[in-house]
Amino acid sequence: MNKKVEKALNKQIELEHFSSQLYLAMASWAEKKGYNGSANFLYAHSEEERGHMLKLFHYINDRGGHAIVPKVDQPVLDYKSIQDVFKEIYEHEKMISKEINNLVGLCYDERDFTTQSFLQWYVTEQIEEENLFSNILDKLNLLGGDKAKMYMFDSEMEKLLSAQQEAEG
Ligand code: FEO
Repeated sequence: MNKKVEKALNKQIELEHFSSQLYLAMASWAEKKGYNGSANFLYAHSEEERGHMLKLFHYINDRGGHAIVPKVDQPVLDYKSIQDVFKEIYEHEKMISKEINNLVGLCYDERDFTTQSFLQWYVTEQIEEENLFSNILDKLNLLGGDKAKMYMFDSEMEKLLSAQQEAEG
C-alpha cells in the first residue's frame, strides 16, 4: 500500500489507542468517585475505541502494509469533576475528527480511493461521537454542577449505555 498513507494510518492507530487509554483512565476515576453509571459508560467506550484501533490493524495488514502496536502513553489520571471529564472527551473527539479529515485529504492527494472509501466509516462515526458528547455536555451544563443532580445525571448515563447496547444488538 501507499507508504505515506500507511504511515498516516499507523498514526491513527496511536490516536485510537490513546483514546481507549484515556477513557479507561476516566472510567477508573469515575468509578472511584462513585459515578458508577458514567464509569460503566466510559469502560464500554474505551472498548469501542479499541475496536476502532483494531479495524485499522486489519485494514492495513489486509492491504499489504504493517500495522504497528503503538507505545503506551499514560493519560491524565485525575479530574476536577464529572463535567471536566466530558468536556475533555468532547474536545478530544473534535481533535480526532480533524485528524480523520486530514487522513481523508491525504488519501485524496495520493489518489488512494480505496482507503478513502474505508475511512468513510470513521467520518460517520466521528459525527455520531461529536453529537453524543455534545448532547451529554449540554445536559451537564443544564444541571449546573449541583451534587444531587450529578447523581441523577449518572443514572442517566447507565440508561444511555443500555440503550446503546440494545441498539447494537
Ligand atoms: Fe475512535 Fe471516539 O473515536
